[in-house]
Amino acid sequence: MERNTRQSLFSQAKQWVLEAGEIIREKIDDPLVIDTKSNANDLVTTMDKETEQFFASKIKKNYPDHLLFGEEGYGDKIESLDGTIWIVDPIDGTMNFVHQKRGFAISVGIYHDGVGEIGLIYDVMADVLYHAQKNGGAYKNKQQLEQLSSSLNLQESILGLNHFWLCENSLVDEREMQRLVKTVRGTRSTGSAALEMAYVAEGNFDGYLAMRLSPWDIAAGMIIINEVGGVTTDRHGHPINLLERTSLVTCNKEIQHHILNDFLAKGKK
Ligand code: IPD
Ligand code: CA
Ligand code: CA
Repeated sequence: MERNTRQSLFSQAKQWVLEAGEIIREKIDDPLVIDTKSNANDLVTTMDKETEQFFASKIKKNYPDHLLFGEEGYGDKIESLDGTIWIVDPIDGTMNFVHQKRGFAISVGIYHDGVGEIGLIYDVMADVLYHAQKNGGAYKNKQQLEQLSSSLNLQESILGLNHFWLCENSLVDEREMQRLVKTVRGTRSTGSAALEMAYVAEGNFDGYLAMRLSPWDIAAGMIIINEVGGVTTDRHGHPINLLERTSLVTCNKEIQHHILNDFLAKGKK
């Protein structure tokens, strides 16, 4: 994608993300209609749906040749990454949205022929926007984020990690995961994969590890982390396939190497 095209698309996407966030903030105390999806803890609200519809109508009207790959199904059926695709999670951290009214984000990643061009993660209630354009650095609001430290070792690191590895215990060796948890300085679980990736980019978390995420959880985060020199792969160290659910390891290269080789590679296949 040409620089000018990317820049103007970024400005438009940013404006829509901020607008969508403002609508959510205005309605934050309205009564919620809550539904469940794959299981009783997989929540979805009318706000998730309305926010995705907001993006769907804006994108279709202004960029009819672009595609939308969204969690709530108001977009297109995506079978390849050809063309320009907006990968949108209208509310990442719906459980936080419902129970805590904070700690959730709008996540928008824009890819062109499979290449990450624009990443936006908006912490709606904190009014903090993490954003990046390919080769343009990553930002938290107006502040440019520094490159990730390469010297930090695992013993001094804080890892984003949730209990889902227990649910996905066919994928990892539980003893190796326990050893990893005991090795690091601390673990944190915030309930929004997008925000956890933003925290890695910001250097608040030194890495984030998840066993099963969807493309819309991670599409924006991957672009932002890439701009600060971080790496993102699946649990085998393979590139992420944005057309499928996937495991995820994202951090600086040294920690990545350590986690993959000394812990996850010893797990089950
Ligand atoms: C969820 C959050 C959560 C992660 C789950 C996701 P949602 O997204 O990112 O942190 O652990 O796997 O499904 O459902 O709130 O959009
Ligand atoms: Ca999500
Ligand atoms: Ca969601």
